Amino acid sequence: MDTRISPTSHLIPSRIETLPGDKSISHRAIILGALSSTVSTFTRFLTAEDCLNTLSIFQKLGVPITQVNDEVTISGVGLDGLRVPQGVLDTGNSGTGIRLITGVLAGQRFSTTITGDASIQRRPMRRIVEPLTQMGARIAGCAIEGRADIFPPLTISGAFPLNGIRYRLPVASAQVKSAVLLAGLFADAPTLIEEPELCRDHSERMLKGFGADISRDGELIRLSPGPLANPRPEVPIRIPADFSSAAFLLVLGTCGVPVTLTGVGLNPTRDSLLHVLLRMGANIQIIDRQGDDFEPYGTLVVTPSSMDNVEIFADEIPFIIDEIPILAVAALFSKGTLRVRNAAELRVKESDRIAAIGRFVAAMGGRITEFDDGFELAGPVTIQPFDVESGGDHRIAMASIIAAVCGNVSATIRNCDCINTSFPNFFEILSMVGVAWE
Ligand code: S3P
Repeated sequence: MDTRISPTSHLIPSRIETLPGDKSISHRAIILGALSSTVSTFTRFLTAEDCLNTLSIFQKLGVPITQVNDEVTISGVGLDGLRVPQGVLDTGNSGTGIRLITGVLAGQRFSTTITGDASIQRRPMRRIVEPLTQMGARIAGCAIEGRADIFPPLTISGAFPLNGIRYRLPVASAQVKSAVLLAGLFADAPTLIEEPELCRDHSERMLKGFGADISRDGELIRLSPGPLANPRPEVPIRIPADFSSAAFLLVLGTCGVPVTLTGVGLNPTRDSLLHVLLRMGANIQIIDRQGDDFEPYGTLVVTPSSMDNVEIFADEIPFIIDEIPILAVAALFSKGTLRVRNAAELRVKESDRIAAIGRFVAAMGGRITEFDDGFELAGPVTIQPFDVESGGDHRIAMASIIAAVCGNVSATIRNCDCINTSFPNFFEILSMVGVAWE
């Protein structure tokens, strides 16, 4: 599906209470809910393709899960309760799905094959295969000519118990950290992870919430194997709205029309774009902060303001990694230079996002210099009418749409079905704000 945006002078200031649930937390809700020995109910579960694939994979692994709208109830089967699935497990477009679930499958007494769509089949898996192999699993993957890595489909011959290892993360990746932590639940000794560069900590928070013996001392995380249980099975756990989805509307709010966003996840390992935008001079108020015992969330009141581009620090990159496409859009409307370096991981996301940002900035009439590990662009840019290919990458599609809306130009953004992987009601929200699209 291609999307056409038409200019409009009638954007409507809006209060948006329907942002979808957090994608990272929704995956973990299914996984930890399934591995616990109790029932768990989660509300505001993200009913987008990525998380629904994780849900159906655990059903295939024998876990009773019911879903009614955005409420899921998982009857956990405990650490030794997963069953041999029929056929190949399909994670669709989800890197989080395939990497975290492989961590779980590494600790099973059976073999499984897991794969995903064309984009997943080009994403590097050596980063999880190496530590999981050290822990005792055997994982066979595929090769791609000219790329020294391992790619899906992966066939995992699990082992139980696995070895507890000490592992230093070679990339700041929460997916790798989480795969090793999940495998660590099936080990015969503690698993120690050194995390030289901090990245999102949803797994640690949820493991703790489900009673795991997990602690952190500086950059060292320590997990002891042991059963999981939801301490309050009768109380539904509300998943906050996804900060990464809110990010598109935050930039709409700073560069387009006032918006108020409620219930937005404000985990400090996720909300750094907020702090970058505030440094740029954005007018954002954070009110009603709650939920600090599990996953913090709050309401963001955003009004347009003029902004200046700022320096992005290396240690901020893992915390804004998914928001860099929309940060590039904010930079187009701001004075000065945005320079993003130390972000080579962007090359191996749902698409090569450095190349994709280069494509959309150029299509909009901006000038951008690409580096191996980032890019530099100068604003402000008067956005030109444009026609751009999303490359099937949801965040590139949404960032391009927001640029067209804030630039008040006609634009065609090609291949927008991918938006369903993370933000199924994106277009409904655009309509509510008065965006003219078809
Ligand atoms: C995620 C971690 C990040 C992020 C992805 C979701 C997660 O990937 O880009 O969208 O839920 O753990 P990496 O951990 O590979 O950086």
